[in-house]
Amino acid sequence: MLARLRERFLDGSNAGGGYWRDEAELALYDATFAERIGWKWDAVIAELRARGWRPRSRNVCDFGCGSGVAGRRVLGAWDGFETLALADVSRLAVAFAGRKAHADFPNVKILDAPPSLAEGTLLLVSHVINELDEAGRERLLALARQAEEIMWVEAGTHAESRALIAVREELRGPMSVVAPCTHSARCGMLAAENGRHWCHGFARVPSEIFQDANWARFSRELGIDITTLPFSFLVMQRGDGPSSGGNMRVIGRPREMKGRMEVLCCEAGGVEEHTLQKRDEPELFKTLRKGRTDPVFQMCVQDGKLRCVP
Ligand SMILES: C[S@@+](CC[C@H](N)C(=O)[O-])C[C@H]1O[C@@H](n2cnc3c(N)ncnc32)[C@H](O)[C@@H]1O
Repeated sequence: MLARLRERFLDGSNAGGGYWRDEAELALYDATFAERIGWKWDAVIAELRARGWRPRSRNVCDFGCGSGVAGRRVLGAWDGFETLALADVSRLAVAFAGRKAHADFPNVKILDAPPSLAEGTLLLVSHVINELDEAGRERLLALARQAEEIMWVEAGTHAESRALIAVREELRGPMSVVAPCTHSARCGMLAAENGRHWCHGFARVPSEIFQDANWARFSRELGIDITTLPFSFLVMQRGDGPSSGGNMRVIGRPREMKGRMEVLCCEAGGVEEHTLQKRDEPELFKTLRKGRTDPVFQMCVQDGKLRCVP
């Protein structure tokens, strides 16, 4: 059943979201694909916490909710939310997500999403962008323009990241970027020389799953590498953005060579690869090798080498 579902995600027959056939499919999806998506949401939430940001909205709308993992992760991360509106072309999905959210958060009012957003709404979008045609993307952008805040998570592929960058550029102006960027200037990935790169990070996969027979079967039968979980994301808010606490973001994983690494760095001035010498900055070298929740640093380039700002 999972293999069939995955084919429907990937082969385009899912356009319009008509692929949820019954409850059992949604439940299986929720325990597998959606669980992995939940780890990506955990990574985004952890980064926002590390950067000292929390949403100020009282209302949440989960667009293209599927089994509802995004809404549940966000309601579980911060308090003070009053309503959760669920939007999906599939009535089955809205009903499933609504029941699960109500069971976990009985004090939050669960609503069917209205055609326009209530004032003070945090809009969530998760793994939907490749299912929308041009007109669908335009409609979603129109909804996003009404939001107070937006949290949007997609797969960490070149195509999805580039689609999210296009969203960022459309919304920039009245909205500022909270994360992943440390600035709200034009995205440096759009420079011609960066065409092969894309903005992505890696979520932590809980170590327990490596001992779990069901996840081993999931991986074997679907040919999915469960040890690595790349994702792309975008968090924006109306008005001015918060200060990021750092000037450079490290994108993806640095490429390590003997005694040095090549690090793709993003800052207001653009996206560029810089060399970090282990002997120059041993602590930073160790931190980058391990990766950290908030990959934002105070760094500068001196004589062509990456250095910590003293
Ligand atoms: C891959 S699933 C992702 C579900 C969920 N957001 C998650 O992260 O697990 C994509 C969802 O988008 C929904 N969808 C597709 N096109 C849509 C549209 N035009 N309007 C609303 N929902 C849509 C599908 O029905 C499906 O539930």
